[in-house]
Amino acid sequence: MCFEYCAMDAFDSFYAKKILITGGLGFIGSNLARALADRGSRITVVDSLIPEYGGNPFNLDGYEDRIKINVADIRDSFSMAYLVQGQDYLFNLAGQTSHIDSMKDPFVDLDINCRSQLFILEACRRYNPSIKVVYASTRQIYGRPESLPVDEEHPLRPTDVNGINKMAGEFYHILYSQVYGIRSCVLRLTNTYGPRMRVKDARQTFLGVWIRNLIQNKPVEVWGDGQQMRDFNFVDDVITAMMLAAISEKSGGEVYNLGGPEHINLKELAAIMIKIYGKGDYRIIPFPNDRKVIDIGDYYADYSKIQKDLQWSPAASLAEGLSKTLSYYDLYIDRYL
Ligand SMILES: NC(=O)c1ccc[n+]([C@@H]2O[C@H](COP(=O)([O-])OP(=O)(O)OC[C@H]3O[C@@H](n4cnc5c(N)ncnc54)[C@H](O)[C@@H]3O)[C@@H](O)[C@H]2O)c1
Repeated sequence: MCFEYCAMDAFDSFYAKKILITGGLGFIGSNLARALADRGSRITVVDSLIPEYGGNPFNLDGYEDRIKINVADIRDSFSMAYLVQGQDYLFNLAGQTSHIDSMKDPFVDLDINCRSQLFILEACRRYNPSIKVVYASTRQIYGRPESLPVDEEHPLRPTDVNGINKMAGEFYHILYSQVYGIRSCVLRLTNTYGPRMRVKDARQTFLGVWIRNLIQNKPVEVWGDGQQMRDFNFVDDVITAMMLAAISEKSGGEVYNLGGPEHINLKELAAIMIKIYGKGDYRIIPFPNDRKVIDIGDYYADYSKIQKDLQWSPAASLAEGLSKTLSYYDLYIDRYL
């Protein structure tokens, strides 16, 4: 199959295109911004740099002369109305990502993950209706799976406030596509990992803390019995999916699952990470109660729809992705603490 070759050719069309990335100083947004800058796109990132979230100026280290950084909040409708103007593409990634924080402070999550999405889409409708939008949604909106693997037809029953607001956020994108013709595509991401992820705490994903603990010679904590099944995507594969979604003629108004080919439980994951890193230890500890009540149990995605429509498949194996990630944090952990 000529996937890589074809994708590279198609991605040349990003050259000189004007691109806005919300959440562009965060984990996935910064990796995307770097990849697009390498293809000659004219990029503006907008990010609030709220300390509890994943934004980190170091994520665009070395790219400051090629990427415009606008420190602004997507809750500011006036900023967003200005920023969407003249853009060819919007990658809409800004978000409050912590499930626990969404339960402790549901209104902040509501404002960022739901209400602000309407500001952004209204700005597109009024000032730039021909823009193409890619929205980063989450597998969290499925809740506890009824059956595995989970495809896009699975019922949506989020187990936390974050899931409900992300669900509303993606529904607005689809609505604006259907009613106003704003070409929006929704990607439902599964656990994503890689260089530039937040490792300071578990606000983005438990994997961040696991990586930090390994690097700092502390034991990795596996909660519950460690049998929870998950799938994972290395960040480069997620970026490829976003770029394919942006340039596809088919993707407007569509929702696609991303997912990983390897389904493993968390205990196995801890063991693999330790093996790859060459040292470390893990211990199984009881689930903290505030986590247990919102846990989704086992999850892995059926991502055959995006395979078929956009010819996307994850390229990185878990071993390869984890190895690259651990090498990155071995070098740069100090910039993420
Ligand atoms: N990483 C994952 O495993 C994963 C899984 C599912 C979905 N997602 C979604 O992907 C998107 C990107 O996630 P990420 O992992 O890169 O997290 P991240 O926290 O690193 O990135 C989100 C960025 O949004 C910024 N942001 C938050 N609130 C903002 C606001 N009000 N105004 C402007 N900027 C704001 C943050 O500063 C941060 O840089 C999010 O929408 C998230 O819900 C991520």
